[in-house]
Amino acid sequence: MVSSWCYFILPVVLFIGLLRKCRERIWGTCKNTDCLQGRVFIVTGANSGIGKETVKELAKRKATVILACRNLQSARSAISEIHTQISTGELIPMQLNLASFQSIRGFVTDVIKNFAEVHVLINNAGVYVPFKEHALTEDGFEIHFGINHLGHFLLTNLLLDHLKQNAPSRIIIVTSKLFESGTIDFSNLNGEKGLTIKGRMNPAYCNSKLANTYFGIELAKRLENSGVNVYMVCPGFTYTGLFRNVKRSWFHYIIFSPVALLFLRTANQGAQTVLHCAIEPSLSNESGNIYRDCKLYVSKKNLDPDIALRLWDMSEKLTKINDTLK
Ligand SMILES: NC(=O)c1ccc[n+]([C@@H]2O[C@H](COP(=O)([O-])OP(=O)(O)OC[C@H]3O[C@@H](n4cnc5c(N)ncnc54)[C@H](OP(=O)(O)O)[C@@H]3O)[C@@H](O)[C@H]2O)c1
Repeated sequence: MVSSWCYFILPVVLFIGLLRKCRERIWGTCKNTDCLQGRVFIVTGANSGIGKETVKELAKRKATVILACRNLQSARSAISEIHTQISTGELIPMQLNLASFQSIRGFVTDVIKNFAEVHVLINNAGVYVPFKEHALTEDGFEIHFGINHLGHFLLTNLLLDHLKQNAPSRIIIVTSKLFESGTIDFSNLNGEKGLTIKGRMNPAYCNSKLANTYFGIELAKRLENSGVNVYMVCPGFTYTGLFRNVKRSWFHYIIFSPVALLFLRTANQGAQTVLHCAIEPSLSNESGNIYRDCKLYVSKKNLDPDIALRLWDMSEKLTKINDTLK
């Protein structure tokens, strides 16, 4: 009896293992191992998941990395953990709450004061909150739109001159394949009229990831010939704490586990395309496209530039960025 089960289970396990290996090859890895000593990176949401693994990989290459985190203690813990494995790189914890425009402005002031050079900004932080909770940022915006899009919009714009002065430099915007399920409704950007739930995903999250994508398109256009390149990245479906607020039943986990085994990347695998876009020299002549699996995923030509421009104008008004820059 036991041996007949072995005849069945063993080939299934081997088959899943083999499929997983094939998928891992498709996901790709960042092959560049150049020394990054003297290069300064900012990673938002660097204390966990994809952000923390990105920092680890940069530290291995001797970079200086500012861990821009909501909670300073979490940033310090992440640094201690990284230092148990990697002794190179200079890792600096700094407080940044993307749900607060005041915190973003304070963070930028400190960065400009303390770092003459910043070469790469990695807009990685993100939230996925159950839609029913109607959570808002400190400034009263729907939480996904406010943190994932507006917070990074303001942060990037406030750091733009600094990045231009240190060109060649790069801006990485971590979006998601789920942007394909998003919509930009200019009469309901903040979800105040309610949002329609299509399928199982949170529409506010999908919309915020589409906003990330349009932001990158328009940003790249404005930065043409400035020496600052923009890359949008879909890291792939990755095992991190992103969905920690979503309650699932045990039944879901049982059904989901074979799928996870095949499709779920480790946080380090999720960080690979982010890293690739942040450091790979062969991408120096490209800007404004979307990457996944360490290669081009969607060209900027496939996204409507008029929507990107309109979203930019609205985001400027909502963040009052022009008042700050005067
Ligand atoms: N995991 C996936 O399958 C997946 C797929 C596609 C795209 N992504 C994108 O990948 C990025 C990284 O997510 P992850 O999967 O690594 O999830 P994660 O482990 O939950 O990391 C998210 C990070 O964002 C930070 N953050 C949240 N709100 C913030 C705020 N107000 N201010 C500053 N930082 C804040 C979190 O800090 P705290 O620890 O303090 O909350 C955390 O460090 C996100 O943009 C996400 O949308 C993930």
